[in-house]
Amino acid sequence: MYKTSNGQAIKLGKELGKGGAANVYLHASDKSKAVKIFKPEILQKEVNLAKRIEKLNQLAQIADIEMPFGNAKKTIGAWPKDIVKDLSGNVVGYIMDTVNGGIDLAFIVGARDPTTAFLKYRSDPNYSSWLNYFLYQGRGLKNRFVLSYYLSLYFDKMYKLKAKNGARIELDICNFDIKPKNILASIENISGHNHIVPYILDLDNLTLKDIKHKLSPSSAQFTQEYRAPEGPIDKYYDYWSLAVLFYQLIFNQHPFDAVLGGTRFSDGTERDFFIKNKCFPWGRNRKFLSVGTQNDFRHGNFLKISSELQHLFIRAFDSDLPSQRPSMDEWSRGLLDFLQNNSVQFDRLFRYK
Ligand SMILES: Nc1ncnc2c1ncn2[C@@H]1O[C@H](COP(=O)(O)OP(=O)(O)O)[C@@H](O)[C@H]1O
Ligand SMILES: [Mg+2]
Repeated sequence: MYKTSNGQAIKLGKELGKGGAANVYLHASDKSKAVKIFKPEILQKEVNLAKRIEKLNQLAQIADIEMPFGNAKKTIGAWPKDIVKDLSGNVVGYIMDTVNGGIDLAFIVGARDPTTAFLKYRSDPNYSSWLNYFLYQGRGLKNRFVLSYYLSLYFDKMYKLKAKNGARIELDICNFDIKPKNILASIENISGHNHIVPYILDLDNLTLKDIKHKLSPSSAQFTQEYRAPEGPIDKYYDYWSLAVLFYQLIFNQHPFDAVLGGTRFSDGTERDFFIKNKCFPWGRNRKFLSVGTQNDFRHGNFLKISSELQHLFIRAFDSDLPSQRPSMDEWSRGLLDFLQNNSVQFDRLFRYK
């Protein structure tokens, strides 16, 4: 049995998903709400969890966290709305809005084969629209650029948070544990048009820093594939994770996968080793590198995107300093320029085999 901050009982409905830290359920008597319940071992470590949830809840009341889609506005993530306590009064989780009809980006990133993509969700009413929108080919490719573009706008907003009245909020938020599983995308009909609408999840993991205080999880979650070489510190760490995600959405390949080390880097094939040694296939060491024959066409598609976007990827994965990685603002401009370039034929742009 669980309770809200003012003592109302919460009954858990069906499970919506789970991650490394928690399970998320539908609220049994209010399906518009989702309930995140942390695992005991996480609660033991996260002594300031209640404080962070409270702070995020307050922030959600005052900050402009909406994006326009057609004539509607969507909240850009699942923000904590209330804490959840167990019967002895310990904080064990929080309540947020349910994201309906969303698919996590891990499925979109890997959606290459129409016979297996989204198969787990074959009976979901959205199955065919996900196939239609996100399959890694022709039309799906353009939508993956669109998705990356929206995400760059979303995160730009997060890093330059403003109040609803437009005043800047003096607060840095970073270390989102950005990875496909922490982002959902749904196709929503808004006044007669279908829009791809992303949602950022797992917001409890982030760090909030103002001039006086820093509020962060005692053991921030991270995921190796999205972890920048320097580890989670600031927004530049997130810029790395986001660039990996954009690369995966666009090229259906992790930037450091299927890269071979040639002579100079022959002592390691681990992805981590390549990341640390600046072995991005299009970076400074490219003359020492090759890409695996099976997958080379995927990295090879890099040459088909605009040089503006190529440079953003190179800066993201091959800069000397984390602060040289492109900002979300630069990504959104680069992606929009490419999307608006009428001479780009997205359905014929890439090789898929
Ligand atoms: N508001 C929500 N609406 C719908 N599904 C959600 C929501 N929040 C989380 N989920 C699902 O639950 C999974 C785990 O949630 P998450 O907050 O990422 O937990 P963890 O901190 O353990 O990673 C997500 O990957 C997603 O599939
Ligand atoms: Mg998660």
